[in-house]
Amino acid sequence: FQPKIMAGRKVVLTAGPTFEAIDPVRGITNSSSGKMGYALARALARAGAEVVLVSGPVALPAPAGVRRVSVRGALDMRDAVFAALPGAEVFIGVAAVADYRPQQRAEHKIKKAEGGLELVLTPNPDILAEVAALPNPPFCVGFAAESRELDAYAESKRRAKGLPMLVGNLVQDALGADDNEVVLYDDNGRYPLGRAAKDELARRIVEHLATLLAGGEMR
Ligand code: C5P
Repeated sequence: FQPKIMAGRKVVLTAGPTFEAIDPVRGITNSSSGKMGYALARALARAGAEVVLVSGPVALPAPAGVRRVSVRGALDMRDAVFAALPGAEVFIGVAAVADYRPQQRAEHKIKKAEGGLELVLTPNPDILAEVAALPNPPFCVGFAAESRELDAYAESKRRAKGLPMLVGNLVQDALGADDNEVVLYDDNGRYPLGRAAKDELARRIVEHLATLLAGGEMR
C-alpha cells in the first residue's frame, strides 16, 4: 500500500549526467548512472505526483507514469526544465550537471595530430540555483555528492543556492550502486536516512518532502 501523499502536485526533476559535446563523437561528461534520480521519479509517481523527468543520457528505461524529456548538454537541460516548470510546485535537481562545456563544438570530428590539444571550457549555468532564484520559485531540492566533510559542504551548498531542502551523500558510497546512504538537510536540521536501496531511500525522501510541503516538521 502506497499512500498518495503527493497527489495533485507537479514535480520537475533532473537526473543523470550531462554530455557536453566537443565534436560529433566526443564530449565531456560526469559519471552518473541516473539511478537515484530515476528512483526518485518512480517514488514520486507512486505517491501520486505528476512527474516530469528531464534526463541526461543514461541507460535506464523511463519509469511508468513519468513524462521523460531526454536531453544531452546542460543548456538543453536548462531549456527543458524551464519549459516544464509552469505549474510545478517542486523542482528537484538530481542531475550531475557538468560544470563546464567546450566553448566551441567542432562541426566535424577532430583529427588526431602531433602534440596536444587545447580545449577552452566555459562555465555552465547552475540550473538549480537559477530556478531557486525565480521570483516565485517552486520548492527546490538539491543533491550534493561530496567525497568528504559532507555536513559542512552540504549545508553551505544549501544556503548558497537558497534551498529549503538538500540531500547529501558521500560519492564513494553511491556511484553506480543500487544502494546509497544519504543525509537530509532542511531549515530544522539534519536527518540521516540511513543506508538502503535507492528505491527505499527515494521513498523516505518523498515522505520528508511531502511533510514539508504540508507545512509540517520532521521529527
Ligand atoms: O554545486 P553542485 O554541483 O555540487 O550542486 C549540486 C546540486 O546543484 C544538484 O542538485 C545539481 O543537480 C544542481 N546543479 C544544477 N546545475 C549545475 C550544477 C549543479 O542544477 N550546473
